[in-house]
Amino acid sequence: MKPRNFIKLSGLYTAGLLVSSSILFLSSCLNNNMDMGGNMGGNMGNMNMGQPVPVTEGNFTTPLAIPAIVGATTTLTPQNVSTNIPGFGIVSGLGYTPTGLLGPTIKVNSGAAVNINLVNQLNEKTNIHWHGLKIPAAMDGHPDNTVSAGSTFNYNFTVNQRAGLYWYHPHTEMLTGKQVFRGLAGLFIVNDAAETALNLPSGNRELPLVIQDKIISSGTIPYAPSMMEVMTGLMGQYVLVNGGYAPIQNVETAKYRVRILNGSNARVYNLALSNGASFTIIGNDGGLLNNPQKVNSLLVGPGERADLIIDFSQTALNSELFLISKMFSGGGNAQGTQEFKIMKFKTTSQVVDNFTVPATLSSINPLTESMATISRNFDIQNTDLGSMNGSAMTHTINNKVFDTNRIDELIANGAIEVWTFDNTKGVEPHPMHLHGVQFQILSRTGGRNSLIPSEKGWKDMVLCMPGEKVKIIIPFNAYAGKFLFHCHNLEHEDSGMMGQYKVN
Ligand code: C2O
Ligand code: CU
Repeated sequence: MKPRNFIKLSGLYTAGLLVSSSILFLSSCLNNNMDMGGNMGGNMGNMNMGQPVPVTEGNFTTPLAIPAIVGATTTLTPQNVSTNIPGFGIVSGLGYTPTGLLGPTIKVNSGAAVNINLVNQLNEKTNIHWHGLKIPAAMDGHPDNTVSAGSTFNYNFTVNQRAGLYWYHPHTEMLTGKQVFRGLAGLFIVNDAAETALNLPSGNRELPLVIQDKIISSGTIPYAPSMMEVMTGLMGQYVLVNGGYAPIQNVETAKYRVRILNGSNARVYNLALSNGASFTIIGNDGGLLNNPQKVNSLLVGPGERADLIIDFSQTALNSELFLISKMFSGGGNAQGTQEFKIMKFKTTSQVVDNFTVPATLSSINPLTESMATISRNFDIQNTDLGSMNGSAMTHTINNKVFDTNRIDELIANGAIEVWTFDNTKGVEPHPMHLHGVQFQILSRTGGRNSLIPSEKGWKDMVLCMPGEKVKIIIPFNAYAGKFLFHCHNLEHEDSGMMGQYKVN
């Protein structure tokens, strides 16, 4: 195993503390919500000991920005950008174009030949992972395949899958969290004939929302997680939507298709409307569900997508409605302890809207456990709240940190397998993700003890809350080669919570 160089922690262990007693000390702080005080040196003085980072709500006066739409042939140029974020002035971060944080929305039809040129204008390596797309391993943005500063790479693949809201972001070893947090991410929308035939709301009634919390300070989006922030994942006090803070969107009295990506490094949102009204889930990570699901709130973990119909037809003219995140339990000490507003909708014009949500959206055959020939168990509990490797904190899967030279699971192509993610004794949420495939979720025991309505259909993410054991079923009709599976809490991923499967 080659030497590893995990996120370095400032000065914490230079005092000669025994690692094991430090861990005990940290975990007792976590359990008791203690403050460690300012006498530990380094970052410890302002470290937030597993307590939630409070969200600061803005004024909701700046119009929602909608990312530009580009087609299957385009150039993405990761670079340093300066962008005007209301309430902060000019903030520096990263973008795929000079115009601001994030990148354009890539929109293609199923079957399209994609040809995307990555021109790396950062001063460090990067690459792109096409999250949710089933594409050849060499195009998937594996950390073995990076593009050095000043170089270019051509991503070339065919989109062979159903309509859905996928996304893209860097996937370089131990730099993913930093590059995504500082602004590199974008949406990848696939359309197909079956979805088009449903005539779902489109044009100005289709709103993409990339929800991400950020730290913004001294005119920049800094990335310097403390040990505690590696433990919980990095969270920020400002919730941005499409790269803008506290936006407002004017709407008509009609049904809108609101397509949400939780593009946050670590924060879980419990989405709801401020008036308590229900909304309808029509799709998730892997496209449309079989049938619409009406809910009043929806838990969305990092990396997950939610395709929603929100009905503004009953809202009075000039009334205001907020998309909020409600409190939730079971998220560990650092999550779900606060309700906050994310964005505002204002109903500004009265129209007649004849759209009704189709009772049948698609037809997905549910897979059953008996179809699987192999089952594998993954311990994701990290019961010691991560562990120390020299001066760095790690997270593990089956007690192993990521090693690009190790294949963790060998898979026969075409096999159907059941994978169980066991977070029974864990204290942190772990949003687990597999590259190269879409899967179905079979069951959840412990914690929430059941599947939630957005967990029907095809998924590439599954949120495993503390106490939960979640079973998924995966048809590996994938390309041959080496693919990743990992926790999509990006600080967990970058501190080792990632493995590799190889399809023969
Ligand atoms: Cu969106 Cu391997 O990640
Ligand atoms: Cu995790």
